[in-house]
This record gives sequence, structure tokens and C-alpha cells, in this order.
Amino acid sequence: MSVTDKHPQDLQLFLDKLGTRLQKTPQKGSVADYIPELARVDPDQFALSICFNDGRQFSTGNSTTKFSIQSISKVFTLAIALGRLGDKLWQRVRKEPSGNPFNSIIQLETEQGIPRNPFINAGAIVTTDSILSGSTPKEALAEILMFVRAAASDDDIYINEAVAKSENQTGHRNYSLAHFMKSMGNIENDCDCTLGTYFHQCAIEMSCEQLARAGRFLSGGTDKHHMIDKQRVRSINSLMMTCGHYDGSGEFAYRVGIPGKSGVGGGILAIVPNQASIAVWSPGLDSCGNSLLGTQALEDLSTHYNWSVF
Ligand code: DON
Repeated sequence: MSVTDKHPQDLQLFLDKLGTRLQKTPQKGSVADYIPELARVDPDQFALSICFNDGRQFSTGNSTTKFSIQSISKVFTLAIALGRLGDKLWQRVRKEPSGNPFNSIIQLETEQGIPRNPFINAGAIVTTDSILSGSTPKEALAEILMFVRAAASDDDIYINEAVAKSENQTGHRNYSLAHFMKSMGNIENDCDCTLGTYFHQCAIEMSCEQLARAGRFLSGGTDKHHMIDKQRVRSINSLMMTCGHYDGSGEFAYRVGIPGKSGVGGGILAIVPNQASIAVWSPGLDSCGNSLLGTQALEDLSTHYNWSVF
């Protein structure tokens, strides 16, 4: 029996109180400013939505406001890449936490241009490059959007061109990661094409309600079991747990205790295995680039309902 069967009104009350309390917190973190379009987002916004496997959904705050999902998109591209390449993907990217910032280049030099995991930028660029092989950027992006829309059961999900352009103009670090990996033979396509595709996937916009629904393919939601096989659900959740918050992954596992993937837009997708998919959004970030209040909300929620897997 899920928590909603017993006391659905209690859960809604808990969420509303949580949202109101966190919105009053003075320390909200800082919005990402290395992507100029993201620097313009109002930091005083907060939203959370939970989608249970039985189909019921509970939300609070600005839960229909769309935000830039950024690195959360890496979960969807990983699912697509694993579906296409299977375990061959692991010849190009590893499955280990990096212990370094999401945009770090340092390990690539001593590790033959093979990124530590698919969630740091270098690993996500390789993953996108693998989807791009045999397709044009337009086709690859159409495939990514189709997957996300099918997962969310909602076609009203688009890419924000201004955000993609803004990141392309200032993405020197990502350009250096891609060119370095190209020099080591780990990027198959033209770097501009791979990065153009990567920047566009990061610029997908979704609301918390849409994102929570899209996460059901990872929580074992019964109507989404066809999207990827069970073993892959397990693989992706394990990587979210160990690598989903970069050099803050240990802290997130310690405090929240469930798999999660953050983005510099301030969103986090978190999975309560076999129970629910949760999306939270608060644009202010901590020093690792993860949503400050989003993490706090998930910690409070998983503690209250005893959702930690540990
Ligand atoms: O490549 C970048 O830097 C961004 N498009 C995505 C980084 C990101 O979301 C890191 N997450 N916390």
C-alpha cells in the first residue's frame, strides 16, 4: 500500500507546508550565471511534484512553470544510448563517481579521454555523441524529445532555443572537453555537431509536473515498463545514486538516500524505487551546482516518509 492510499490529504498538506516553509528561507543559493539566459531566472520560485506508480500525482508551488532541465536531460540520453548500444557504451564512458566538479577536465588527461561516468559533462557529451552517430543533430534531438514526451505522456515539451544559443556562445569549457576527447579518439562526430546537440538537449524545458511523470520509467510505473528494460532501470538508478550530483553525490545519498539527478537550472529528478518519481525545482544552487532548497525538500520528504533505500 502506498502512502497515498492511507492519507492522501496528509501528503498534500505536508507538501504545501514544506513548500511554504522553504520559500521563506532566506538562503536560497545562487542561480547559475555561466549560462547568461539562466542568470535571468527569478530565484524565488519553488515547485515539487510526486507521481506515484499507481498514477496519482501530488504537487505544490509553481509546479506547472517550465524550467531548463539542463543535466537532468542526461538521464534520458543515457536511457536512449543504452537502448541503442547496450553495454558497448561502457567502452567509452565509465561508471565511477568522479569526485570532481561537473565540468572538470582534469581526469581526462590521465584516463585516456574516457570520462568517469555519463552524468559529468564529459561523459554526457560522449553519450550524446554515441546517439548522434548515424543521425543528423536534428534527428537525434527529435529522438530525445520523442522519448521525453512519451515518458511524460505529454507532447507540450520543447527546447528553448535562446538557452541553447546562450550556452553555445559561452560553452568554452564544454568545447575544451569535447576537443580533448576528440584528440584521444573518443568523439566520433564533428565536435560542433555533438556540442550543438548536447546544448539543445540541456535546453529542454519542463515543469515539475511533467518531469515527475517523465521519471516514471525509472520508478517502475506500470504503464511505463515498456520504455526500457528492467535491468537498465536498475543501472540508471545506481548511477543516479552514485554520480547524479557530481562531487555532491555522497552528500545527497547521505541526506536523501534515493537516486537523484540534478541540473543547473535548479531541478532535481529523484526516484523512490518501485514507488514514485519526484521532481523538485528551486533555481538557487549550492557550491556543487545542485539545487540548495531542492535538496532540502527531498531530504525532508524522504525522511518523513522513510523513503531512503538505506
Ligand atoms: O553543460 C553544462 O554545463 C550545462 N548544460 C549542464 C550542467 C548541469 O546541469 C550541471 N548540473 N548540476
